[in-house]
Amino acid sequence: MVNMSSISALLDGIRARHLHVGIIGLGYVGLPLAVEFANAGFAVTGFDVDERKITEVNAGRSYIPDVSPSQMERVVKAGKLSATSDMSRLATMDVVDICVPTPLRKTKDPDLSYVITAVEAAAAALRPGQLVILESTTYPGTTEEVVRPRLEAKGLRADVDFFLAFSPERVDPGNAQFTTKTIPKVVGGVGPASTDAAAALYASVVSSVVSVSSTRVAEMVKLLENTFRAVNIGLVNEIALMCHKMDIDVWEVIDAAKTKPFGFMPFYPGPGLGGHCIPIDPFYLSWKARQNGFEARFIELAGHVNSSMPDYVVQLVSDALNSVAKPIRGSRVHLFGVAYKRDVNDLRESPALDIIELLVRRGAQVSYTDPYVPHLDQGGHVFESVAFERAAATQWDCAIVTTDHAVFDYQRIAALPLVVDTRNALKGPATDTVFKL
Ligand SMILES: NC(=O)c1ccc[n+]([C@@H]2O[C@H](COP(=O)([O-])OP(=O)(O)OC[C@H]3O[C@@H](n4cnc5c(N)ncnc54)[C@H](O)[C@@H]3O)[C@@H](O)[C@H]2O)c1
Repeated sequence: MVNMSSISALLDGIRARHLHVGIIGLGYVGLPLAVEFANAGFAVTGFDVDERKITEVNAGRSYIPDVSPSQMERVVKAGKLSATSDMSRLATMDVVDICVPTPLRKTKDPDLSYVITAVEAAAAALRPGQLVILESTTYPGTTEEVVRPRLEAKGLRADVDFFLAFSPERVDPGNAQFTTKTIPKVVGGVGPASTDAAAALYASVVSSVVSVSSTRVAEMVKLLENTFRAVNIGLVNEIALMCHKMDIDVWEVIDAAKTKPFGFMPFYPGPGLGGHCIPIDPFYLSWKARQNGFEARFIELAGHVNSSMPDYVVQLVSDALNSVAKPIRGSRVHLFGVAYKRDVNDLRESPALDIIELLVRRGAQVSYTDPYVPHLDQGGHVFESVAFERAAATQWDCAIVTTDHAVFDYQRIAALPLVVDTRNALKGPATDTVFKL
């Protein structure tokens, strides 16, 4: 039996914006979400173990490109957002929203250690009437099997004394068209009261909410979305390799194919997958499928193709250098862009890191330009970003467009002696000096 006074207090608090919202994990997901709650009028406290982030938040400075400096300054100055590492303050929150990392172990098994630490902190502070939401991407069953028992350990019951839901974050960092506020939010609770409470909360900050019947469905929704991307990128990467063998420009093929108004959606080849989602999330699903005696073959195959792309890029560099009778060893190879995708500062799983490592191992003299990533420490080698002006004026033996940041002047890159373009950023056909993926 639901404690009606708690649920109605929670719903009243949402309507009146009287609730105090706690966000655990102030990264690419947590900080934009915290700012949205603050914009909507809630008092928000961010919790993180990284003291630098706490200092930045409390000073009103943004360290995430999707949160503008002015937005950040406004909510902090207005007293709507602050940050702390003092987890005991979770006890004063009405809502606890968990946005911590969910990486893979070296064995490609899920690493839920961050989620467990955050949940244990929430459990230590849990009180009746609180709403706890997990946003971190994870395998179906996590909320019921990992989160719920820890929160219920001291006797409070989920969906009765407190509320518990899973709501996957679907944000696409660097995407100005679809943001935390405008992307529909999927919500699944451990019971109807939890679903209603979480749906009401999000409806007050995002433009639309989609309620589903359980936490497991909500968890699976996110993994379907990201597996769909990983598999389609794997397919188009394989088509790119195939087109190369047949001397067909894959980019021209995709541009023409996407004119079909139905039944086709363009995905683009590239130097490999990056970020904290697409290279990782499908393996959460295949791990859980394996626990249930099911082998997720598409996921494994896409992972195989996608992870071979950095090697392929290095092969293209070798072909390009070979065309001017140069070996990789001793050649000056310069990467334009090292972030995993355009207009972000996120280096996690970036294929550029693999490409740098492969080139260094073969004896190339590697350098890079990325206005979003001033320094880079890869495999014990420390690099500093070369200013674009200087990079565009240097006669590198070979340049690579690894990340198609909007700020780069591609006409100037195209004028360099030899370029490998992994993103079709230079447009136009391949030439004697431009090698396209
Ligand atoms: N980055 C994306 O594009 C994206 C998009 C959708 C979903 N997600 C998912 O959201 C989750 C978070 O991803 P992210 O990119 O924001 O990660 P992130 O690394 O940018 O941020 C996570 C934050 O959590 C903090 N943290 C770790 N353990 C903590 C603890 N015990 N207590 C308090 N803080 C702690 C870290 O210091 C960090 O600031 C992941 O599950 C990810 O898969 C990410």
